[in-house]
Amino acid sequence: MVTLNINNFMSIDLQFLTREVCRIAKETASFIREEQTKFSISAVETKGKNDFVSYVDKTSEKKLIHSLTDILPEAGFIAEEGTSSKKGIKYNWIIDPLDGTTNFIHGIPCYAISIALMRDDKIVSGVIYEINFDECFYAWENSKAYLNEKEINVSPAAKLSDSLLATGFPYYDYHRMNEYMELFKYFMQHTHGLRRLGSAATDLTYVACGRFEGFYEYSLQPWDVAAGAFIVQQAGGKVTDFSGGENYIFGKEIVAGNAACFDEFLNAVKKYFI
Ligand code: IPD
Ligand code: CA
Ligand code: CA
Repeated sequence: MVTLNINNFMSIDLQFLTREVCRIAKETASFIREEQTKFSISAVETKGKNDFVSYVDKTSEKKLIHSLTDILPEAGFIAEEGTSSKKGIKYNWIIDPLDGTTNFIHGIPCYAISIALMRDDKIVSGVIYEINFDECFYAWENSKAYLNEKEINVSPAAKLSDSLLATGFPYYDYHRMNEYMELFKYFMQHTHGLRRLGSAATDLTYVACGRFEGFYEYSLQPWDVAAGAFIVQQAGGKVTDFSGGENYIFGKEIVAGNAACFDEFLNAVKKYFI
């Protein structure tokens, strides 16, 4: 185990750090995989309407926090299940210990661990490990983006009419439902179609590697999007909020897409959401 000295962080190898985070995500994923084989729906707790959690999410988060503290002791945490309240002065990990909990509890194979490192208010490293397909997506400041050691890039498709999009369905925050449904209808009729994987982190990685041309959703939290948005950008894509601004990590609205048809994609979102 290697501990990084935060005082020398600028000289620390972010590539090395990111690879350590990949290792930590994979170790924690072994626990999640093992629990899936014996998981009982009776272990599910409800945090809010359609918002579920179990000991698997919480234990996964504790394991991640323990291991990430080992490699970067002075960093704090913004973690979904709130198992650490430590705030870092300069560095904070943004963690979703199990993105796709509804899939996990129903035995549907699409869920991931998402970990981003934020320096001040800038993401400098992102790792998303999709557990079922053993796909580890990652990038660090000024790097390319990678999937299991191979460089990935966003799709070259230049038209929305040649695009496959992903979204997440509103499941508790219905105040923008009408706009959402109108936009959904528009995309149904003007793209190859839409998918709802059930893991926003995975949706974003699929944009990064060119499987989807774009992804949009509202009411997401920082842990859903921080690592994925960064990986999309490092893969050559674009990410904004619904107005085309930069408030997509904490602003609860995100549009992410390949560069070539991003303007057309964002303009459609703007037309229905503003
Ligand atoms: C959820 C997933 C889902 C998205 C939800 C998220 P969770 O995260 O990312 O795709 O539509 O809004 O809350 O609860 O499974 O970590
Ligand atoms: Ca999530
Ligand atoms: Ca989660």
